Amino acid sequence: MKSIITSSRKTVILTVLIFISMYLFLNDSHPFMGCKSEQLTTKKDTIVPWKYPDVSSLKEDGADNVIRLGRKIFLETYKYIGPDMKDSSKRFLGNNMDCQNCHFKGGTVKYVLGLVGTYSNYPAFDARSDKIISIKERINQCMTRSMNGKPLPEDSEEMSALTAYLKWLSTDVPKGTRAEGNGVPKIDLIKRAADPVNGKLVFARNCMTCHAENGYGVLNDPGNVVVAADSLNGYDFPPVMGPDSYNDGAGTYRLLTSTSFIYSKMPYNDAVLSLEDSYDVAAYINSQPRPKKENLDKDYPNLKLKPVDAPFPPYDDKFTDIQHKYGPYQQMLKDGESSKMIDPNTAVNK
Ligand code: HEC
Ligand code: HEC
Repeated sequence: MKSIITSSRKTVILTVLIFISMYLFLNDSHPFMGCKSEQLTTKKDTIVPWKYPDVSSLKEDGADNVIRLGRKIFLETYKYIGPDMKDSSKRFLGNNMDCQNCHFKGGTVKYVLGLVGTYSNYPAFDARSDKIISIKERINQCMTRSMNGKPLPEDSEEMSALTAYLKWLSTDVPKGTRAEGNGVPKIDLIKRAADPVNGKLVFARNCMTCHAENGYGVLNDPGNVVVAADSLNGYDFPPVMGPDSYNDGAGTYRLLTSTSFIYSKMPYNDAVLSLEDSYDVAAYINSQPRPKKENLDKDYPNLKLKPVDAPFPPYDDKFTDIQHKYGPYQQMLKDGESSKMIDPNTAVNK
């Protein structure tokens, strides 16, 4: 009897210890999940100013030429690894977009998925795969989702160049610190589900002029045919839906991420939408046909870390696909989180 009590006590103590360490681990891992929430980051990270070197400082030597190449690939991705490359062994992208269609101006713009300092935070814990990943693995997530393509081999010239470019962008951000302005800004949750029907009207009013009536974008091509691109000039205005857009496994397919992006930066240079209209137009865009990613059910193997707005099963809650896709999210978030501004990257299921 005595020994049974002792062993069950041991079990209790062990269980408590496991829970405490899990709690600590999860808190610690938040910053690695791309969380830029002030409360969490100031606890652990040192925030440094948004500072990156000037391109004109690059010399004409071997190492700097690799950085220069990486920058070119980032700015005109379709030209180096696009689906229409003459050399078929270089066809990695599934669309004709470029990295800076979302990571503006080479990833140097604050609060719009800027990549200054990103390199300094990798390897990092990745909730999507539930493991620590390298910067190359993270780039390949955008390759296979945002660019709807294939992963670049880790030892390829293009991957080395992109990595060298991102490393250079982080020159002024010491390892373990974070540049102020990473990620996308936090947004408030709205109380209703996002409404793609109103979103369609918002799109017609505020987006069509650039992204085209059907949302397929406008090619940088004198003959301008607005179908899946067949040119190496990319887009003047990138597609936000249709076959040449990001796929349904991309971060931009998640309502909170795309709403935050649109609310803070679209229409381009004139972000005038209300928060509600931003939710609705994001919902509209993501309700329209686009390429599909296979095996999405394998994403977020730890369902506790699956963001509420990742709208594909399985889930560890009772909410429907539709609610995961369009909200409202209040009741889906952890207790106490509902009324706060939330960071799209940390919106996890309860
Ligand atoms: C359609 C928009 C889009 C395009 C195009 C895109 N990305 Fe991304 N990228 C995102 C989003 C959204 C995130 C953040 C996802 C999240 O954490 O919720 C991201 C995150 C990243 C990160 C990790 C950032 C961090 O702080 O952890 C890297 C690195 C990255 N992208 C590189 C690239 C590269 C290189 C390309 C071009 C090959 C590219 N991206 C193209 C949308 C895009
Ligand atoms: C004045 C032109 C203009 C208007 C109007 C505009 N955009 Fe954009 N949008 C752009 C440009 C240009 C880019 C790419 C920026 C770059 O490559 O540097 C972009 C990029 C995007 C992207 C990320 C890349 C992609 O294709 O997925 C999304 C999403 C987006 N816009 C949505 C919208 C929405 C929604 C609206 C309406 C509320 C809108 N935009 C209105 C010019 C515009």
